Amino acid sequence: MPSVDLAQASIVVGVSGGIAAYKGVELVRSIRKLGMQVRVIMTSNATRFVGPITFEALSGNPVCLNLFEGSDRASIQHIEWARSADAVVVAPATANVIGKLACGIADDALSTFLLAVSSPVLICPSMNSQMYLNPAVQQNIENLRRFGYRIVEPESGELACGTSGPGRLPEPEDILDELVAVLTSKDFSGKRILISAGPTREHFDPVRFISNPSSGKMGYALAVAAHHRGADVLLVTGPTHLAPPRAVQTIGVNSAAQMAEAVFNHAGQADIVIMTAAVSDYRPEVQADQKMKKGPDDLTLRLVKNPDILRTLGERKSPGQLLIGFAAETEQLRAHATQKLREKNLDMIVGNLVGRTDSGFAADTNQVSLFYPTGNVETMPLMEKQKLAHHLLDRIAGLPTMT
Ligand code: PMT
Repeated sequence: MPSVDLAQASIVVGVSGGIAAYKGVELVRSIRKLGMQVRVIMTSNATRFVGPITFEALSGNPVCLNLFEGSDRASIQHIEWARSADAVVVAPATANVIGKLACGIADDALSTFLLAVSSPVLICPSMNSQMYLNPAVQQNIENLRRFGYRIVEPESGELACGTSGPGRLPEPEDILDELVAVLTSKDFSGKRILISAGPTREHFDPVRFISNPSSGKMGYALAVAAHHRGADVLLVTGPTHLAPPRAVQTIGVNSAAQMAEAVFNHAGQADIVIMTAAVSDYRPEVQADQKMKKGPDDLTLRLVKNPDILRTLGERKSPGQLLIGFAAETEQLRAHATQKLREKNLDMIVGNLVGRTDSGFAADTNQVSLFYPTGNVETMPLMEKQKLAHHLLDRIAGLPTMT
């Protein structure tokens, strides 16, 4: 679970004067959406790009601009903010702010505040590529890293100044991802977790296939949560519309056979395998080289069985390895899930009632029951897949081999 209750967390966002200041607005909005409290400190240059009133409206708090303006307490409020912050994000962080922080200079509200902070600080450099690659800036960034600041690497691409190269501020959701990671306890650190996600596609010609509506959301949520909790995660995913999670090693596959190959290649090194993927049990016996032409009124497709990846993993399970399965069922959840738990030699199976709009395939929420070899059953309430992912990891952390 996150070490800080995200809904209670207090975050300070520092905004300095770069064109990417507008992304700071979206960042503040996303942090607020998770229920965290946000306070914003802007440099005077930042106010040339975005008005403080925008940050005030979105954060629901006054924006700190100057140490000596406003209330009598303004000159010490940065100390209070520094003391109460669970984490700080500076986005965008200009070469100037980075340089001042690296040298211990405190000449405005943001730089003074930053020197007083003892909680984790994420620095998100954003500037023209030549400035970013300048040896002095690189040296300052390296020094900040040495001092314990977390640097969120800028992306490469086209920049506002018309040039191209490294220096672009990452998207707000990626910065938020790093922030949540910082606030999350690392109880899976040192564990290697292989997670499968999404559907498989079983083609019968180059453009048509048999599949299912798995969106990958449940498996990706698990991969992100496990990564945030310090695990070394490998995500093996069927085709989805989701962006690969940042900092998670991802292998994309198409068919069940390809998923089997990828999983078997890596499962031996995994402490925990979680099979969330909706793997097709059957595939067409023959795959045409060219698109099949419309023909007679009836067409029979002969299907043959795919390898059962999880069953094979259960047969090969090494001592100490944990195998977690999912069971997508439309009826008799307990009977079907416990049968799979037993037959596949699993340590836990997540029984998932599917066929509802708010649970199972493609939904943002999920409702599951957990079945254990001891016969214990735990039925969980409907919740967001991201939240459920953490609850599932909590249960996995409590399994006999993990404790
Ligand atoms: O991706 P989402 O849209 O977020 O939806 C999530 C989900 C509904 C896909 C997920 O929560 C879920 O229930 N996944 C399991 C789907 C499934 O294929 O269940 P199953 O009962 O058919 O398979 C049982 C277990 O064996 C699963 O862990 C499955 O990955 C595995 N299996 C199945 C067949 C096969 N050939 N090889 C396997 O390894």
